[in-house]
Order: sequence, then structure tokens, then C-alpha cells
Amino acid sequence: MTSNADRVMIFDTTLRDGEQSPGCSMTQPEKLRVAKALAELGVDVIEAGFPAASRGDWESVNAVAREVQGPIICGLARCDRDDIAKVASAVAPAANRRIHVFLATSAIHRELKLNMAKDEIIRRAVEGVKIACGYCDDIEFSPEDASRTELEFLAQVVEAVIDAGATTVNIPDTVGYTVPHEFAELFRYLRKNVPNIERARLSVHCHDDLGMAVANSLMAVVAGARQIECTINGIGERAGNCSLEEVVMAMRTRETFFNARTQINSQRLYPVSRLVSSITGMPIPRNKAVVGENAFAHESGIHQHGMLKHASTYEIMRPQDVGLSRSSLVLGKHSGRHALRERIKELGFVLEDAEFERVFNEFKALADKKKELFDGDIEALVLRAEGGDAGPWSLVSLQTTSSVDGGGKATVALQNSDGTRTERSASGDGPVDAAFKAIEEVTGLRPALQKFELRSLSEGEDAQGEAVVYVNYQSRSYRGASVTTDIVESATRAFLEVINRIESSQRAHAA
Ligand code: KIV
Ligand code: ZN
Repeated sequence: MTSNADRVMIFDTTLRDGEQSPGCSMTQPEKLRVAKALAELGVDVIEAGFPAASRGDWESVNAVAREVQGPIICGLARCDRDDIAKVASAVAPAANRRIHVFLATSAIHRELKLNMAKDEIIRRAVEGVKIACGYCDDIEFSPEDASRTELEFLAQVVEAVIDAGATTVNIPDTVGYTVPHEFAELFRYLRKNVPNIERARLSVHCHDDLGMAVANSLMAVVAGARQIECTINGIGERAGNCSLEEVVMAMRTRETFFNARTQINSQRLYPVSRLVSSITGMPIPRNKAVVGENAFAHESGIHQHGMLKHASTYEIMRPQDVGLSRSSLVLGKHSGRHALRERIKELGFVLEDAEFERVFNEFKALADKKKELFDGDIEALVLRAEGGDAGPWSLVSLQTTSSVDGGGKATVALQNSDGTRTERSASGDGPVDAAFKAIEEVTGLRPALQKFELRSLSEGEDAQGEAVVYVNYQSRSYRGASVTTDIVESATRAFLEVINRIESSQRAHAA
């Protein structure tokens, strides 16, 4: 069926604005994994990072540009020659690339942050866009804090950057301050008062400080925006960004109202949402629209009765439209490759052959310990990072004892990638605390523990337990997670992942 609805581009910034939120930092292999999933999802643009931030950020953007096909690969830069050159070199391997330059325009930012007059802002913005045009044809400009900028001045900036060569002009509600009708008016004002506005694509970028990022983005579309910047699960600075899955499903479910559509493969929404949640450790609230555990659950008798008569009585979207395909089918140690492959496909994940083999081997090992494997178990195996802990340390052995009055004792042996093997014993409040202390003894790193979470991932007494550890080290937050059927082992591996991340990030920043 062909539709006359206008195409709205989806610009995903999970790897840039999303990754900027506290505790959401990702390693390079994790960023690549997310970028590949975003390409499968059908996003038009992936903003892969801010290459000038560090050597590690440049490398991640470059890896995405080299390895991810399909979407336009974009990097962010200040209006600064060096920043722009770094983006240009990082995205160079991509078939389709974009440079995104930004400069704040509001009086608050001009006076209190930049100490620049209006004409200086226009001069710098134009200069930044022109420098970027020297590297590629696809240039986006963002007047940061646009929603708090004087309308007339904003229009002048937009006109000037389009004249300078910007092909997309993005209007950010940087601090999540605007409200839907006011924001639509802003877009209408620009379309009426910027003479060359038709030469650029108008884009919207909203933050969720007042819980209106999705509504504000949709009203911008009503008023003419043809690109939405958003993140998976709405992760991002402070309260987050516009949530991709919500804005996409709103447009899909109400296409005739918006007369606009995206090219997102909505059946990939749930698996990508789970992947990003598992990598960043940002849990998805049960009642989150579209991808929350309760989004398609019906509890009250009246609703259940209606659902039994016809799903449309209480459901405006079908669970399968967002890729949610729960099954009571249980797999076990006699299940073969075919059954596992089918279940993974039904759960919405796409695995390359080598990755499937890893999952299959781990599935067999788990099935030896655990009689029945449910959807939660399969999902955990698929989401687990390939190759386990990315860093110098791996766990060789772990022995713990504990008693109610005597606390806990642990002996931990770790192997370092330089070939050395070290064993240490420690005592603590319990076996987990003792194991963490023994790891600290071996590695010499003593991060401050902020939070420790444990949860069961499936059903039954032998369910897999996920441990998540959050720490602070030298003013940065780190997170590690692990899933096994033994919660002390999960906790120990999660803490070791934290240590590995600290060491990897220290190396990336030192480079
Ligand atoms: O929120 C914001 O203003 C941004 C810009 C860099 C687009 O993230
Ligand atoms: Zn932002």
C-alpha cells in the first residue's frame, strides 16, 4: 500500500546525547552493537558521537563509520576548526556521512556562557558551517537553546547558516522548557520568516525535563519539521531526550492525523530497546509506553473480558507491531539449534552465524544447570556481550564461605591479559563484599560502590540472577553487569566488569 504521507527522517542520537547521560557510557564494542541494531531498525541517521571529546570517542565514531551500512553516519562538532576536522576524519569511511555543528544562540547562553554578542554568534555559526562544507555536502546546524532564543534573532541565524550551506537546520529545546503549542508556533514562525527555509530540512531535538519531549517533537512535525532527533528508551542528558519508540509509534498509530510517516521497522523496537537497556543499565519502567513490560498487559476483569471479545477494545497497537512476541514455550537441554534459532527470531533478534554459535553453546551449558529455559533466559544469553568482559582481567576461580555471625570470606584468582595470574583472599560483611575486596587487592583499584542490584531474569528456583554494580571512580561513574545462575558469581563478575571498564577507559583517555 502506498501512502501520501510525508516522510519524516529519524535521527538517532542514542550514541551521542544518550551516551552523555550519567552512568550510560558505552564501550566501543557496545556502541558498534547498538549502531548495527539501529541500522536494522531502519533509522535514517546515526549520530555516533562527539569525536573531539576524546581519542576513544573519535575511535568509536570511526568504527561505526567503517562497519555500519545503511544510515547516514554523523558526528557532532562545536563551531571550531579542530572539532570539525575530527568529525570529518572520523566519519570519512561511511558511504553517507554528515557533520553536525552547533552553537548556542539564546541570550542566557550568549551572555552567561559564551560572552559573545549576536553578530559574533552569526559570524561563528556561518564560519563553522562553511568549514564543514569543505569536507562534505551534508551539513546540519543546531542553534543550541533555540527554544529560549529571541525569535527574530533565531530567524537571522537560521537564514545565515542556510546561506552558508547547511542542508538541515535542527531546532533544539535544549533544556526541555517549551510546550507543544508554543513550539509549533516557533516552527511556523521560522517557515514564514526565513526566506530561504525551503532549501534546508527542518529538524527537531527535544529534551524531557517537563515530560513533553515526545509531544513537543510531534507538534514540530505538525508545524513542518521533517526530521526528529531522538534516542532509544529516551535516554539522554538529565531527564533524557525524545523517546524514539514512542514518537515512531505515535506517528504510525495516528498516521492519518500527522499525515507523516517514518521508515522504521517497528517490529525491531522492542529488541533494540532491550539491547540498549541491557548495555546502559538504564532499566525500562514497567509502565513505559510502547516497550514497558505492562504496555500490553491487561489486569482488570472488564478489560480482560473486552480483550477476549476483541483486542481492539483495549489495544491501539498490537504487541507484535513493536516486536513483542512472548511465548510460554519452554526450551531445555534437548532443544536443538533449529528451535533456539526460531525462538531468537520470534523474540526479534538478528544474530550473525558466529554470534548464534556463541549463544547456542552458552544455551547448552545453561541447560545443563537449569531444566527449563524461558524467554527471559534466552534474551539474557542474546544480550550478553560477546566475549564477556572487555578488559585486561578475567576470572579464573572464586571460592566463598559465609556464616551468619562470622561474615564472609572469599578467595579470587584473576588472570591478566599480560599473562600473570594472581590470587588473593579477603574477608567482608558477606561473600559478595569479601569477593569485591579480594578483586581490589589483586587489581589495586578501589572504586566507591554506589549501588548494587540483583534481580531474577526468569522463573523458578534455578532462575538466572542478574547482578548490576554501579561505582564512582575519579569523578566518573561506571557500571558492570553479569548474569549467571549463582548470584555471588554474578556479583563478582559484575564488579570485575567495572574494574575492566575503568582500566579500558583510562587507556582510551591516555591515548
Ligand atoms: O540539546 C541540544 O541542544 C543538543 C545540541 C547539540 C543539538 O544536544
Ligand atoms: Zn540534546
